[in-house]
Amino acid sequence: MNLLHIDASVLGDNSVSRQVSAAIVERLRAADPTLTVTYRDLAADPIPHLSGLHVAARMGAEVPAQIQREHLAGEAALEEFLAADIVVIGAPMYNFTLPTQLKAWVDRILIARKTFAYGPNGVIGLAAGKRVIVAMSRGNVYDGAHAAAEHLESYLRTVFGFIGVTDLEFVAADGVQLSPEHRERALKGALETVGQLRAA
Ligand SMILES: Cc1cc2nc3c(=O)[nH]c(=O)nc-3n(C[C@H](O)[C@H](O)[C@H](O)COP(=O)(O)O)c2cc1C
Repeated sequence: MNLLHIDASVLGDNSVSRQVSAAIVERLRAADPTLTVTYRDLAADPIPHLSGLHVAARMGAEVPAQIQREHLAGEAALEEFLAADIVVIGAPMYNFTLPTQLKAWVDRILIARKTFAYGPNGVIGLAAGKRVIVAMSRGNVYDGAHAAAEHLESYLRTVFGFIGVTDLEFVAADGVQLSPEHRERALKGALETVGQLRAA
């Protein structure tokens, strides 16, 4: 089994989502020591944002020399995702949604005929069968009055639903900026939730 572990927080050792995503991977690895884990740190090694040249190259145009490396980086990200049975994503909320580094990764994995297909009856997701677990960290809480401002969990649900992933779990650490006590409680709660995740 292949596990792809992705982090996107720019806050390094102070990141909550990194701590939670690491705990998820450790739990799954302890349950199945034969797991092959691939790690991608999108903050340390960002995937370039799409340009017209990238899109043309993906559609079969000749790859110009100036985007050769970037094209290969995007293709590698797609291949890693396609090869993964389990995907664990550390996803912080920045300005109500996901970090641009994570969006740049999404732009490389939502690829027609690879992870979804258009057909006469609409769109078909081609990535069914993968388990995706998102370790999400948000400064505020998004129930009640702020629900309409939430575009991280809702966005990722749309993305993975679109490509056919039905085995999708979120582990949330919420309200981490409200006070140090909130942060401590949110992290503790998220790590407890990790302990209850199904092992395999
Ligand atoms: C650039 C930036 C933007 C942020 N924007 C929001 C926001 O819109 N809503 C929110 O609830 N928290 C926001 N936060 C707080 C983070 O969601 C929170 O600190 C979270 O723990 C970040 O994840 P991390 O600790 O893994 O980096 C923001 C933090 C940063 C650094």
